[in-house]
Amino acid sequence: MARKYGNELSTYQFPPGNPELRRQIARRMVEAGCQTRPDDIIITSGCQEALTLCLQTIANPGDIIAIESPAFYGLLQAIEVLGMKALEIPTDPKTGISLAALSLALEKWPVKVCALVPNVSNPLGCTLPDENKQALVDLLAQSDIPLIEDDIYGDLGFDARRPRAVSAFSSEQQVLYCSSFSKSLSPGLGIGWVRPGKYREKIAYRKYVTNLATPTLPQYAIADFLRQGGYDRYLRQVRHDYQRQVSIMTRAVGKYFPQETRVTQPQGGFVIWIELPEKVDSLQLCQQALAQRISIAPGPIFSASRKYRNFIRLNCAQPWSETLEKAMITLGRMVHELNNRDNKDRQ
Ligand SMILES: Cc1ncc(COP(=O)(O)O)c(C=O)c1O
Repeated sequence: MARKYGNELSTYQFPPGNPELRRQIARRMVEAGCQTRPDDIIITSGCQEALTLCLQTIANPGDIIAIESPAFYGLLQAIEVLGMKALEIPTDPKTGISLAALSLALEKWPVKVCALVPNVSNPLGCTLPDENKQALVDLLAQSDIPLIEDDIYGDLGFDARRPRAVSAFSSEQQVLYCSSFSKSLSPGLGIGWVRPGKYREKIAYRKYVTNLATPTLPQYAIADFLRQGGYDRYLRQVRHDYQRQVSIMTRAVGKYFPQETRVTQPQGGFVIWIELPEKVDSLQLCQQALAQRISIAPGPIFSASRKYRNFIRLNCAQPWSETLEKAMITLGRMVHELNNRDNKDRQ
């Protein structure tokens, strides 16, 4: 693209961003069930920026944001930095956020906005069934509460048919849809987007004030990749690879970790969420693992109230290898040791 466009790429591409990229994204969003015009979309520097812009625009410091539990730590950090409060709603590893619990929470608390990852959540890997998506939209509409929908993993579902976005079940005014190419293509490209509905003007201006524009070259490159069909071909391959890697990693947990260990069966993506025996402290495990150059995500970082002390999230995005197998053996040994240590101490 640099050779083809030369100087054109050295200028700012001010919000809403590259028109061809927005056209291609709008076309793709149809697969998620969302009828979108390119002009409805604003390009952002990744999904994290999209989420932060939405939170800043529709909520104020002190406001309550209802989220899944466990939830993506980047969302928790954004809520914390913006001085807002996270209200954790129990979430089922198969069917997603509990609508009964959310309904009770809405009765009890003045929730300002709900921020969820309804398709292939992080870290649980669960997807809300379509009937729950509709029920969620109805529930939030009753109290006039907007939804920030993070659909970053939507393209990585393991089913043949892409899961529909919650946005497909609602009016454009109720849901602010956020996503990026960070999980499907590459985080280093730093390209995301938001379809902010009625907040379009406010969010475009806030985006401009935050960093003027998202870098131009990756916008051109991704637009071209999408237009030529490379993205669809790549997705078909990578979804298949991730599903295989998730299943190999899950088998390794079964083989090397204590018997009581429980593992999620994600409906897409590339992470698994593991419940270790109650005695195992995942923060301690994380330190020990890091010393052996093994990186894991400890459970408490996925909770605003530091829950999930004996949980970890493992990333399965790397192709299975001897090095990974050795790492799993080492990790399993550490978990066994931490699990047995208390027993020994008591004797
Ligand atoms: C659920 C979820 N949302 C948002 C992000 C951030 O995305 P980006 O790298 O595009 O800013 C991540 C990254 O891990 C994520 O898992």
